[in-house]
Formats: sequence, structure tokens, C-alpha cells
Amino acid sequence: MGRSTHLFLLGLLASASPFVSAQSYGSLSPASPGFSVGSGSGSGSGSSSGSSGSSVAASSSQSTIDLAAIGLHTLAKANGLLFFGTATDTNLFNDTAYMQIVNDRNMFGILVPENSQKWQPTEPTQNDFQFANPDRVHSVATANQQMLRCHTLTWFQQLPTFVTTTAWTRATLTAAIQAHIANVVGHFRGACYSWDVVNEALNDNGTFRNSVFFETLGTDFLPISFLAAAQADPNARLYYNDFNIEFDNNKTAAALSIVKLVRAAGGRVDGVGFQGHMTTGQTPSRAAMSAVFRKFTALNLEVAITELDVRQTSLPPTPAQEAQQATDYVSMVGGCLDVEGCVGVVTWEYTDRYSWIPSTFPGTGAACLFDENLVPKPAYTAVASVLAAKATGVPASATIAGIGAGLTGFVASSSSSSSSVANSNNNNGQNVGSTVSSGSNTKANIPAAEFIGNFGGSPGLIPASSVSATSTTNTGSGSSSATGSSSIGNSNGGNSNTGDSNGGGSYGY
Ligand code: XIL
Repeated sequence: MGRSTHLFLLGLLASASPFVSAQSYGSLSPASPGFSVGSGSGSGSGSSSGSSGSSVAASSSQSTIDLAAIGLHTLAKANGLLFFGTATDTNLFNDTAYMQIVNDRNMFGILVPENSQKWQPTEPTQNDFQFANPDRVHSVATANQQMLRCHTLTWFQQLPTFVTTTAWTRATLTAAIQAHIANVVGHFRGACYSWDVVNEALNDNGTFRNSVFFETLGTDFLPISFLAAAQADPNARLYYNDFNIEFDNNKTAAALSIVKLVRAAGGRVDGVGFQGHMTTGQTPSRAAMSAVFRKFTALNLEVAITELDVRQTSLPPTPAQEAQQATDYVSMVGGCLDVEGCVGVVTWEYTDRYSWIPSTFPGTGAACLFDENLVPKPAYTAVASVLAAKATGVPASATIAGIGAGLTGFVASSSSSSSSVANSNNNNGQNVGSTVSSGSNTKANIPAAEFIGNFGGSPGLIPASSVSATSTTNTGSGSSSATGSSSIGNSNGGNSNTGDSNGGGSYGY
């Protein structure tokens, strides 16, 4: 697959004013570099039909690009990635300030239900399927024209009681897994970019976790799960997903073995998800990270960072700790950028307001890109900068300040063609009736062909360049081909910590 390297950042930067006017999430910290766009007439008034309503671009001879306003997904797309996204869930949907950023497709091009698609909420009692909450996440993604990563099927945590207490035989547990996957994947058929089919099957030393699945079925639960998922949605990318496989250790090797094991049994594995639950100062370098990713892409797999956060071990973080966190985020995202076949990055909540870290690892926290007040942190600036740097060809080794200087030079040379932009951007990556009169600086933010799922029966598009050998253009016929009962009004899902601690084995991220 060839990563597209056409650099539409040029157009993106030249049309930055509408972005800036469309969204502002609070100011970047004073230490953050401003990105001077140069002088010129690129300050036309832009009207936005986005969720923040209309606003008027600043009219000055010198604009400053607000990296928060450009958005991580837009910057990721400029690098040829498919997505930058976040986990979210329905229990947070009434926080309008939080949702304004979730709904911003320039910021997040893919959503992941943080909890509501797991086994406990989707099948709380055997053969009783509940989809109201994940359907709402899907609806939000659809409305925003965002993709959906679907998460997760066979996992030892957040299991309903019937799974952990039934006296299973090989045959009955196999049938239960197959029924769960057929119903859940079948319900979302065509809607999911990918499914995390099996999650966290491994202990940190690389041995198999002693879950109900492994105890009853040995490693057969892996191909059983992947075969069932492939049957239920032939077009969703099927992932194995785990944490602490970032360090090139026994667990990393074991994850590679899982892929081979499933394939040897006739199953399809398209990708491996690196959860990326990292700790400041204990994150692999960018080069080490990309080397690990390449071990997987060498097996004709795609990889993604699927649950990124970088937690601080003492709070509140000092400026030095925040700088270290920025470095660590850049190592992770940069490692992905450097590898053909790393398709994108998802953060596990974008704001400290809702991160799972403090409650799971007491005494740690501040792990997200935005703080509790939804203000971007230095780590945000660093990630946005490294994405911008790659897209503009500024050396990856450049400091953040250096990147800013590079951007300024880059834009200054292109902004000589005055970019008077009369642009209506609907904040979902679509230019609605836009008129861009700036020479080649057209449509900065939306590639023509992008997978958005088969929402409501409209086939989504997958760029040919990013279709793996085992996948084809998505031609599924719409979503919601539910095969199970879909009674609504359940109270499952959301961020309630349901059904944890099922199964054995250590569980330290
Ligand atoms: C976490 C959620 O963030 C919490 O809200 C929930 O209480 C427990 O699960 N690995 C995974 C995710 O694959 O599903 C987990 O999400 C975090 C670790």
C-alpha cells in the first residue's frame, strides 16, 4: 500500500482562517509556539455552520494558526493516515462542551465506544442483545461523518455473569462465542471500520491469560472468534488488540504468534492494535516504536495505536513532566507516522475530565491531550506539530520551535497567491458550497475517497491504496442487519465499571 504523500497541508494552512473561526477550544499554553501564517489577505470572513455557530475570522495582517482549530484528524490525513480519533460513550453525551470537540471531524475522524460494545452491555444475559447505547455512538459518528472502530468481542473483562459462571463445555462455550459475535458484529455490519475481535489474550510475560476462554478452549478461542467475526462482517478489518506489546518483548513476540496461529487455522487477521497505555518517561523512542510496528506490518498486517494515553505518575504535573509527556506522545504518534501500514491513532478519551486512568491507577493521571477544562496541553501542541512537520517535510528531528519556524517559511512562500477564502465548512469535513479562490489551494480538509462506513445503506469508500490484500472495497448493504432482538431502553453500557475482574491473570497496563 502506498501512503499518499500529496501534501494538502499547503491548502490547509492557506485556508486556515475558516478553521480558526470555526472552532476554538481554549487557548494553547503561553509556552506553545504560535504558527505565523504570514501576512496577506487571507483573513476573509468565514461563516461556519458547525456546532459552534457562525463566527468571523480575525481580520489582521498576521494570522496565527491555532493547531487546536486545525484538528488532529485533518493533520493526520495530511500525512496519509486514515484517522485520528477518540474513545467516547453515551454517558458523556450530555456534556455539550465535551461533545463539541467529539463532534468536530477536523479533530477526530473516528470514534470508539469506550464501553458500550463490550460483552456485558451488549449481551447481559444469554441471547438477550442490547444495542441502544452503541447505536447512539454510531449515530453520532454517522451524523459527523466519522468512522467507527468497534470494540470489543472476546475479552476477559467486562463479561456478563453468565459467561463467567456457566459450567461450559467446549461445545457450549464455542457456540456462545459464535452467537455473541454473530449477533453483535452482525448488528453493526457495514458500520465498523474495524473490530477488536480478541482483546488482551496475553499476560505480560507472553503466556496466555487464564481466562474462561483459554481454560475451556485453549488457544482455539482465537480462531473461533476471528472466523465468526469474518463471517458476520466480511469487510470490517479484524484486529487483535493488546497493551504492553509496544516494548519488543516476549508479549510482542506472542502477539505475532497469535496472528500466525489464527491464520494457520484459516482465520483472517487484518490488524494488530497497540493500545498505547503509556507512562511518562517509560515510552519507547519513536525509532523503537516504528521498529516494533514494522515487525507486524511485515506480516501483511496493518497496525494502529488504539487507546493512547500517557499517564503522569505524580500529580499535578510539573512543566518538566508535561514536556516529557509531550515527548512520549510524539514518540508514539511519530512511530506510527514512520511506518507504512500504520493507519491511525485513537486516544482513550481526549480529556482528563473523563480519563479512566485516575480511577484505575490511583495516584496517577493527567494522561490525555486536553486537560480537565478541555484546554489543549503541551502534548497536544507537540502531536499537532509533529503531524504538521511530517506533512510539510520539515525534518522529524526538528524541535517544536523549529517546526514552527519551518511552517512559517513554508506558508509564507505559498501565501503569495492571496488566498481570499469564502468558505462554508460544516465542521464535518465537508466543504458546503465553498468557493476557494486561491489557485491550487482548494479543499484542504477532505480527501475525495474516504471510508465513512455504510451508514444508512450508502456504501462508504475505502481508498484503494489503503486496502489490505485480504480486504476489498466495502460493499456491504447497510447497517443494522440485526439478527438478535434489539429491545431498547436498557441501562447498560456507558462508563459504569461493570463486570470487571472476570478471569484470572495479572492485569497491569
Ligand atoms: C476501560 C474503560 O475506559 C473504563 O471506563 C472501564 O471501566 C474499563 O475499561 N483496555 C481496553 C479498554 O481494551 O476497553 C479499557 O477501557 C481500557 C484498557
